Amino acid sequence: MSATDTETMELEFSRTDFPDDFVFGTATSSYQIEGSRFGGCGTSHWDTFAATPGNTVRGEDGATACDHYHRWESDLDLVRDAGFDCYRFSTSWSRVLPEGRGAPNAEGLDFYDRLVDGMLARGLKPFATLYHWDLPAPLADLGGWRNRDIAGWFADYAEVVMKRIGDRVATAATVNEPWCVAWLSHFMGEHAPGLRDIRATARAMHHVLLAHGRATQAMRALGMGSLGLVTNFEYAAPADDSEAAKKAARLYDGIYNRWFLGGVFDGAYPEDVLEGLGPHMPEGFENDFDIIGTPVDWLGINYYTRKLIAPDGSGQFPALREIEGPLPKTQMNWEIYPEGLHHFITWVHDTYTKGLPIYVTENGMASPDQVLNGKVADPSRIDFLNRHLGAVRRAMAGGAPVKGYIVWSLLDNYEWALGYEKRFGLVHVDFETLERTPKASWHALGRALRR
Ligand code: NOJ
Repeated sequence: MSATDTETMELEFSRTDFPDDFVFGTATSSYQIEGSRFGGCGTSHWDTFAATPGNTVRGEDGATACDHYHRWESDLDLVRDAGFDCYRFSTSWSRVLPEGRGAPNAEGLDFYDRLVDGMLARGLKPFATLYHWDLPAPLADLGGWRNRDIAGWFADYAEVVMKRIGDRVATAATVNEPWCVAWLSHFMGEHAPGLRDIRATARAMHHVLLAHGRATQAMRALGMGSLGLVTNFEYAAPADDSEAAKKAARLYDGIYNRWFLGGVFDGAYPEDVLEGLGPHMPEGFENDFDIIGTPVDWLGINYYTRKLIAPDGSGQFPALREIEGPLPKTQMNWEIYPEGLHHFITWVHDTYTKGLPIYVTENGMASPDQVLNGKVADPSRIDFLNRHLGAVRRAMAGGAPVKGYIVWSLLDNYEWALGYEKRFGLVHVDFETLERTPKASWHALGRALRR
């Protein structure tokens, strides 16, 4: 493919292929872009996790990130200029409440107030998320997600934030990706707080949903509508035809996908996962499903990839391992599998949400993008978006009430433990100069959204 082809590559859809009220957007999160050292932000467990040698690539952290704290106006211009309808952002708990509880940081609340007004001034619908992983360190000291009290702390934080911006946000989500908050961070040890402990995991798996329920109630009490939860999904395929591989893939699906939906929509956790986690669950957890099942107005689906799963032969729960798959992969080494997005939208709608609006709150890919002569060619991202939007359209044609599609991410940013190398942005960021350069995918989206 020549340079000219990649610069003029088009998306295969136009806005008129979607219903009038369908929203297109792009997403970021506070710790990944703002810069945690600015504006009186408190220390979060990501600052301390990254300060511990070996936890993140090159010891990178979000102290400066994309310096969005100072560049938010021109960043919002980039969202508007691509023709998007909404912008999904998160508020930082540590920025709003540096101690996690108690006295708010006025500068932090002012920042989100301005940011929301800035979106409205540009005709963008604010899609807020309350927790995208930057837990205040003082609360981590008290056990963080292991401590049942986090449900109350989180509800109080939700109230503080939404008393300030709740009158102007279009939607509000409680937690981003509970699987990452609980399993990835407490069982796999890959994200803050970096634990590998099954008791901690079982508690986090439950408390994250309890906190979601309590915060939903707190926002409802303020009179807010359009409240949701953002869950992530991975398609678990058995690595081979054996019964053992099928069982392992089923369990992976249980831990990753069915646990959180079961809690919120069925008032129960899946039996196969409880077989392993049951002995480590907090006492009386069964009595919390009334709170966990507090009605939501929509569900957010974050989707990136599938995994091939095989048994690991250990006999120790969950006794499974991932096998390298054959499909083309992104810079994350994640297989590209758009059929998974179709599967999850359809399955979630048929099995759990049954008519509730669904948003694809994140979808996108990382590629090792470079600026050449002031331009960034990212044809693989345009192809990725084409194929995944095709999957969304097929699911909608089949009757699923998808109300929006949000690309991860506006900017190249801090990809957590993997640092700044993995580039998910529609806009390239030079992390030396912090200069922004819109990629070909940003231009292609702009053209598609204006057609
Ligand atoms: C999901 C997370 O919400 C986001 O923080 C992360 O950067 C992307 N996935 C890509 O891994």
